[in-house]
Amino acid sequence: MGGVEKSVLADKIAELKRNKRAIILAHYYTDGSVQAVADFVGDSLALSQKAATVDADIILFAGVRFMAETAKVLSPDKKVLLPVVEAGCSLADSCDAAELARVKAENPDHLVVAYVNTSVEVKALTDICCTSSNALDIVKGLPADQKILFIPDRNLGGYINKCTGREMKLWNGACLVHEEFSKEAIVALKEAHPEAKVVVHPECRSEVVELADYAGSTAGILAYCGKSDAEEFIVATESGILYEMEMSYPNKRFIPVPKSGCNEGCISCLDMKKVTLENIYETLLNESPEVVIEESIRAKAEGAIVRMLEAK
Ligand code: 13P
Ligand code: SF4
Repeated sequence: MGGVEKSVLADKIAELKRNKRAIILAHYYTDGSVQAVADFVGDSLALSQKAATVDADIILFAGVRFMAETAKVLSPDKKVLLPVVEAGCSLADSCDAAELARVKAENPDHLVVAYVNTSVEVKALTDICCTSSNALDIVKGLPADQKILFIPDRNLGGYINKCTGREMKLWNGACLVHEEFSKEAIVALKEAHPEAKVVVHPECRSEVVELADYAGSTAGILAYCGKSDAEEFIVATESGILYEMEMSYPNKRFIPVPKSGCNEGCISCLDMKKVTLENIYETLLNESPEVVIEESIRAKAEGAIVRMLEAK
């Protein structure tokens, strides 16, 4: 799509938003053209906080299904739209509610801490949620002798175990996008750019996180790049974040880590990239597809998310 067509669509989207009192929430991993039409772009925590407080009749969620579900759980009276129903998440898919119920029954003394990258059915079986922004604080805030089952990300869970010295039981799930980042690719970039700082999302494997000058959520990574005196950054998270990085810090250079064995190119989440200006426009126009959640599930999931939002 050319620049003119994009700006025509962006204008039509803006008009629909005004007429329908709709707002667009977008994650940093969506395409730059999508982030450009959003009212608010953020990490998973900021997006949940926004969804809970926003003044609008319609929330269009530019992201993947678990994010739109979280918005609906927190704003049940609003119409929540998800442009592509099939936009899923490998991490959320790695934890099935029936399997979690079975593991919980086998471990009745464990508290379930769930990364927000889970389905609403899984959240309904969860004691408290967390995001990569607050996971360390949430876990540190639990009594030291409390047994914990951490779901579904074995990489984020392992990182928290390492930082806190806890021995949480870890679900064996992972983000297939972040698992593509390799130690070899980062070491090669570091040789070519010795002054560059390495920023890594904790969904990456431990040998990758160990190379980080900074490891944290997408918002944490952005804040670190802003504060750091460094001029170059080697970026080990999904490519959509480069849009915000380059907009916010035009004088700094961001080098995406390519797939292992490739010299260039970015690692992208194809589910996040399913959201486009075209399907945002169609979704707002038709007010469909809409996220619908059965009330008994929603109310249980809300408890786990609200406990996270209220945690100090
Ligand atoms: P954050 O934006 O919370 O760091 O989440 C990363 C992610 O993988 C979202 O799908
Ligand atoms: Fe899920 Fe990974 Fe894509 Fe995030 S980047 S939505 S965790 S598959």
